[in-house]
Amino acid sequence: MLFSLKSVVVLTLAVTSLVSAHPHHGIPYPAHLLKDSHRPAVPAASAVASPVAARTKLSAYVTDWSPPASIAWSKLDNVYYAFGIPDQTGALGNFDPTKLASVVSQAHSNNKTVSLSVGGWTGSLHFSDLVSTAASRESFATILTKAVSDYNLDGIDIDWEYPNSPNGVSCNSINSADTTNFLSLMQLLRQKLGANKLITAAVAIAPFFDGSQEPSSYLDPAWGTTVDYLNVMVYDLAGMWNPTTGSNSALANGGDFGSVAQAISQWTDAGFPASKLVVGCPFYGFLAAVSQPPTATNEKVPFSGTTQIQGDQYDEQGTDPCPGATPAFSGEYQYRSIVADGIQANQSGWTTWWDSKTSTPYAYNTNKKTFLTFDNPQSLKLKADYVNKKKLGGLMMWSLEMDDAQNSLLTAMQGVRNLIEINRSFVTILDVCTPEKEHVNAVR
Ligand SMILES: *[C@@H]1O[C@H](CO)[C@@H](O)[C@H](O)[C@H]1NC(C)=O
Ligand SMILES: *[C@@H]1O[C@H](CO)[C@@H](O)[C@H](O)[C@H]1NC(C)=O
Ligand SMILES: *[C@@H]1O[C@H](CO)[C@@H](O)[C@H](O)[C@H]1NC(C)=O
Repeated sequence: MLFSLKSVVVLTLAVTSLVSAHPHHGIPYPAHLLKDSHRPAVPAASAVASPVAARTKLSAYVTDWSPPASIAWSKLDNVYYAFGIPDQTGALGNFDPTKLASVVSQAHSNNKTVSLSVGGWTGSLHFSDLVSTAASRESFATILTKAVSDYNLDGIDIDWEYPNSPNGVSCNSINSADTTNFLSLMQLLRQKLGANKLITAAVAIAPFFDGSQEPSSYLDPAWGTTVDYLNVMVYDLAGMWNPTTGSNSALANGGDFGSVAQAISQWTDAGFPASKLVVGCPFYGFLAAVSQPPTATNEKVPFSGTTQIQGDQYDEQGTDPCPGATPAFSGEYQYRSIVADGIQANQSGWTTWWDSKTSTPYAYNTNKKTFLTFDNPQSLKLKADYVNKKKLGGLMMWSLEMDDAQNSLLTAMQGVRNLIEINRSFVTILDVCTPEKEHVNAVR
C-alpha cells in the first residue's frame, strides 16, 4: 500500500540488516545540536483533557484513496483522514478536498469529529526541515491551522515516520534535534488551535528517538501536557525483516517482535502519561510464504525465499518516493478478505489457530504454503479490555474500509467507548443481567 501507515522496524535488533544500506545511518551529528539548551522556550499548555479529547476513545483512520462505502458513525468517536502530505514548503497535498469535506460534513451531522492526518509512511520526507527553525515551524503551523479552518476540522494528527530515525523511507530528511523540534511544533500548534482542537500523533512502538537515534528513555513532560493523544502503531510487527513469522500485533509476549504491552510500558517508562496513549490496531493481517507449517502451539516458522508475496486482492505493489526504490508488495490481507475467503472457517486449505500467548489468531494454507497473522473480533476485544484495565486513552485502527460488511472488528472494540468506560462496574452489571433478562423474555 503506497501510503500505508507503518510502525515497522523499531527494534534495534530487527533493523540491523536494513540500516546498513541507509544513507543517513551512522553520520555523526554536530554535538551542539544534542544539547537541551537548544530547546526553544515555549510555555506548556494545560494538561487538562479538552472536551473533544474526553469524548474521543475510539478513532478510525479513513483513507483518501480507499474510503469506506459507508461509515458506521454510531460505533466510533473520531476519524483521522489520511493523508495530507506536506511538500518542502509545508503545503498539504495528495488528498481530495471534496472527499474530505464530505467526511467532515457526515461526521458533524452525526456529532462526531475529524482530524486531518498529515504525513504517513511515504509523506514524511520534509518534516525534519519543516520543524527545524522557529521560522519554519511558524510557517508550517500556520499552514496546519489554516487547514483546520478551511476544512472545518476538529484536529490535526501528525504521522511523522519517524523523527531522527533511519527506520522510515530512505530519503526522509532527518536531524538529531527532530524530537525536540517536533515538540516545539506541537506546542506552537496548541497555541494557535487552542485547547478544544485535537492534537495527536501516530507514533512507533518505541518512544521518539533521541539525538543518538535511540528510543528516548526520558521524554520532555511538555509532550504529555501539549498533545491530546499519541496513537501507538502496534502493528506491522511481523515481517520478513524478522528471522521467522510471528504475530502482526501481539497483545503481550511478542518477544523480540514487540507487543502492545511492551510498547505501552516503553512509552510510560519514558514518562508519557498512560491516559494519553492510544493502542493502534490493524484491520489487516500479514501474509508470507513459509517453508514449514506452523502448529497448534507454534506460530514462528521460517519464511520461504526472500521476496514478499502479494497479500489479498487489494494489495498492490508500492514504491517508496526515493531514488532507486523498487516496487514491492506489503503482504497486507484485509479482514474483509479474511472473512470472504473463509479463512477462520478453515475453508480452501486454510487452518486457523489461536495463539494464547500473543492473544492473536494465525492461519496456514496447506495448498499455497502461506502463513497469515491477523486480528479478529476476539483479539480486538482483548485489546479493548487491556486499554480499560490499564486506563489508557483508547483504541485507534488502520483502516476502516478493511473491516467486513457487518463492521465486526469495529463492533468488537466498543468496550473502550465513553459510556462503557465511564463506569465499568455498571457494564459488569449489564453483562451479568442481560442473559437473565433474555431468559425472562423467553419464558414469557
Ligand atoms: C454530542 O456528543 C457529546 C458527547 O459525545 C454530547 O455531550 C452531546 O450532547 C452530543 N450532542 C448532540 C446534539 O447529540
Ligand atoms: C480450524 O481448525 C483448528 C485446528 O484444527 C481448530 O482448532 C478450529 O476449531 C477450526 N475452526 C473451525 C471454525 O472449525
Ligand atoms: C460506578 O457505579 C457504581 C455502582 O453504581 C458506583 O458505586 C460507582 O461510584 C460508579 N463509579 C463512577 C466512577 O461513577
